[in-house]
Amino acid sequence: MKDIAFIGEKFSNENVYVEVLECEDFIRIEKILVKSILRNQGHGTKVINNIIEYADTKNKIVVLCADPKERRWSLKRLMNFYKRFGFIENKNDKFINRFWNDNMYRLPISK
Ligand SMILES: CC(C)(COP(=O)(O)OP(=O)(O)OC[C@H]1O[C@@H](n2cnc3c(N)ncnc32)[C@H](O)[C@@H]1OP(=O)(O)O)[C@@H](O)C(=O)NCCC(=O)NCCS
Repeated sequence: MKDIAFIGEKFSNENVYVEVLECEDFIRIEKILVKSILRNQGHGTKVINNIIEYADTKNKIVVLCADPKERRWSLKRLMNFYKRFGFIENKNDKFINRFWNDNMYRLPISK
């Protein structure tokens, strides 16, 4: 695969750490982590909004694997978080099945 770039610094700040991979025709959110004392205050929302806005300007699909790292966190709640931004559950949808490892995707909204 050519043209792979790590563009996390574009979106990370002192409160939110993100790893984002930009490929020729898609963007993958590898990791997003808000400082634990600052969660549920809109920091994650702001960063995801910036990422999808960027993806839309590039007309790229965004994929990710919603994965609660701790047992007390709920996958359903986490998926609902991403659904607010237009992410859809990847149930091995035909055209998206190259992303078999990712359980959510968001199609670009053309500008
Ligand atoms: C998930 C995360 C990125 C959201 O960022 P945030 O700044 O806390 O979230 P916001 O204030 O912008 O939005 C709140 C929403 O985040 C989601 N969320 C927050 N904490 C959560 C938790 N412990 N488990 C699942 N979802 C959670 C919920 O959807 C919540 O909305 P709700 O209260 O209506 O259910 C952040 O809580 C985090 O870093 N969590 C730990 C690491 C993690 O799970 N990363 C995602 C891996 S795919």
